[in-house]
Amino acid sequence: MRGDQTDAWQSLTAYSKAFFGFDLRNAFASDATRAAHFSQEAPGVFADLSKNHWDAGIEAQLIALADQAGVLKHRDRMFKGDAINATENRAVMHWLLRHPAEGAAADALPASVQVCLKEVHETLNDMLSYAEKIRSDEQITDVVNIGIGGSDLGPQMAVMALQSFALKGKHFHFVSNVDGHELDAVLKGLKSESTLFLIASKTFTTLETMTNALSAKRWFESQGGTNVSRHFAALTTNVEAAGKFGIQTCFGFWDWVGGRYSLWSAIGLPLAIAIGADKFREFLAGAHAMDQHFQNADAAHNLPVRLGMLDVWYRNFLHYTSRCIAPYHSALKRFAPYLQQLEMESNGKQVDLQGQALPYGTSPVLWGEPGTNGQHAFFQMLHQGTDVVPLEFIAVKNATHALPDHQALLLSNALAQAQALMVGKADAGGHKNFPGNRPSTFILLEDLTPFNLGALIALQEHRVFVSGAVWGINSFDQWGVELGKVLAKDIHARMASGDVAGLDASTAQLLQRVRTS
Ligand code: F6P
Repeated sequence: MRGDQTDAWQSLTAYSKAFFGFDLRNAFASDATRAAHFSQEAPGVFADLSKNHWDAGIEAQLIALADQAGVLKHRDRMFKGDAINATENRAVMHWLLRHPAEGAAADALPASVQVCLKEVHETLNDMLSYAEKIRSDEQITDVVNIGIGGSDLGPQMAVMALQSFALKGKHFHFVSNVDGHELDAVLKGLKSESTLFLIASKTFTTLETMTNALSAKRWFESQGGTNVSRHFAALTTNVEAAGKFGIQTCFGFWDWVGGRYSLWSAIGLPLAIAIGADKFREFLAGAHAMDQHFQNADAAHNLPVRLGMLDVWYRNFLHYTSRCIAPYHSALKRFAPYLQQLEMESNGKQVDLQGQALPYGTSPVLWGEPGTNGQHAFFQMLHQGTDVVPLEFIAVKNATHALPDHQALLLSNALAQAQALMVGKADAGGHKNFPGNRPSTFILLEDLTPFNLGALIALQEHRVFVSGAVWGINSFDQWGVELGKVLAKDIHARMASGDVAGLDASTAQLLQRVRTS
């Protein structure tokens, strides 16, 4: 049942009306158990949700809402391999990519899913042997991933996040944009004989990736390169198109893996080359541990459920429209862009599963930068601006560098910002007044290991699933990207011809200005 049609939604509406006097400072002062109640361990992460604008009564209603909206039933359908991506009639099984090949859990899967699991492990084994081969190939010094969206953001984010585990002597480059400046800058530093190009595209039709791949191949040949099968590999569900492109080394995946959920598939090859087969398996194991937590923990202690329902509370009842991601670890520099696609492409929808217009908001705007940099840029607005923006701090206890003082300073700043946002500071003069009572969630990892990163990403995938399920939308399609693609083709043709007939006056004038011939 769509969230807004439940009784719990109605009682949350009533709660939200009575909520405007809520103050975090009073909530902590009047309840000594608040921090403990709203904190929990989950695989790979500890989360403190206590500095958020809610209380135990609201949380209980949110859990009731999850139940009445059938979130957990929807979850179970995903984990059974049902075609819950209804508009494309596909199963949603990225979780299967990190599922162990054998054991009681594997035996309990439906027979059709077991067939897929077998293929998953065959491909995984092939891909990891290939990754090991490349790792020990000293002639290959540079790996260039050409892909965009889910075929870029995930591997790029993870290679950067796990750089302390990465093999020395191999350099990773990520080219996504059709803007030739990006590919050109990368190619300038490369030699054809020491470069491996990975063409990453689920569909193998994406304009940016195909354009970059073609230019990379032309460059490779112009540099005297001949052995395309050694220097190019494809990561795709469209093995046939990769073959036509002239690539023989191909690692496949399946249409039941969404692009933004594909890091666990062959799309993860750059990460596998960087950290090696064993560590890649640990990465998968972390995500699988989170899958099990999501499947088995009761709703009130289920971290993806709690986070996803908090997201619903904020979006639909307190009307907060954005969430700031603040990772206090410079290796998580690409985490916010990664989450932007995960959440905004999944839940940026305006109709329900029946195609009916929704009367409430869906995906918030996600944005952010690592701390402490953000503190010297946009935190001013978070502390004293007129909008309330919930933050999500992500901190890592242990550093991998040996520089004295830095880590304690970094973590002190993370704690202090969360504290300052909440406690504020009264100043009668106005300009120095901090209102306080600003909400945040604090996620803490012991170390930034492959296991913990895998768990952290799967946590985010599942919280997006939870809010999407309450909103009654299909979190697994992305029709909203299509119109721009079609119009770009039309405009591209007009760029050559100069024909502006039928265009609006603004587009016509801009086209005439940007035309070079
Ligand atoms: O245009 C959006 C999108 O389809 C994303 O969903 C996807 O991750 C990206 O493009 C890249 O697609 P592909 O992997 O098929 O090249």
